[in-house]
Amino acid sequence: MPAPFLSHVGGLEVESYFDPASATFSHLLIDSPSRQAMLIDPVLALEASTGRIDTQQADRILQRLQARELRLSAILETHLHADHISAADYLRSLTGARIAVSAAVPAVQKSLRRLYKLPPLSMQPFDLLMADGEQLNFGELQVQAWHTPGHTPACLSWLVLQEGRHSAAFVGDTLLAPDLGTGRCDFPGGDARQLYRSINRLLSLPPQTPLYFCHDYPPQERDAAWMTTVEEQRQCNLQVRDGISEDAYVALRQQRDATLAPPRQMQAALQLNLFAGRLPEPLSDGQRYMKVPLSLD
Ligand SMILES: [Fe+2]
Repeated sequence: MPAPFLSHVGGLEVESYFDPASATFSHLLIDSPSRQAMLIDPVLALEASTGRIDTQQADRILQRLQARELRLSAILETHLHADHISAADYLRSLTGARIAVSAAVPAVQKSLRRLYKLPPLSMQPFDLLMADGEQLNFGELQVQAWHTPGHTPACLSWLVLQEGRHSAAFVGDTLLAPDLGTGRCDFPGGDARQLYRSINRLLSLPPQTPLYFCHDYPPQERDAAWMTTVEEQRQCNLQVRDGISEDAYVALRQQRDATLAPPRQMQAALQLNLFAGRLPEPLSDGQRYMKVPLSLD
């Protein structure tokens, strides 16, 4: 497992952990003075051929928290991911951290419950449903939720506020590295026009603001990149740099989405992530099961 990428934003430390199987970054935010940490988009690895769930990366982050005597105060999801299983519930059970998502998540949960023929939720598996602009305290800092839909209807970007100013944004699957463009918009409820507007909002932040990705799919000629800046995206992004109109972007996005296969772990990811990554209860044989809808073409 690769070592985390380290960066600083003012007084905030960021450790970015890469899961090569799903190409996902989990970002650990550390506020040393208050000994608090927040974790964005943690991953449970799934070995699809055997159904084996691997907690190695989540455990590694836990060990890191313990070694530095940090308290995990919150787990922040940028959206209900379709390409990996969230480790949010697993880490909550071990740390007591609260899990925060978009206030738009219940509508997505409802459509996923319909898709997988699941009963109504007996209780909401997420602790905090964040409206646009709502904030969480994080030592002397604040973390603010921005509703940035388009990739899915319930995507949030998480912005760090230092002395009242937006100093960094964790943008989920809105933007990818500049040479790749943006997140896809062909999942249920995805909308390229909405994503264009969400991205424009993020790109209205000051030019040097760091933007941290949820994914990277690096071509052979470069290493994985975990962050960029507003300026770099505005100058170089393949699909949304300055000068590309909303209509031109929508056409580009739809063309690209038509070529993309569904993520390999999509069935597992969607039906577990609607419960914050909690595994289904075992049946009488002690085994946990998931559903896979089949189709005959
Ligand atoms: Fe995603």
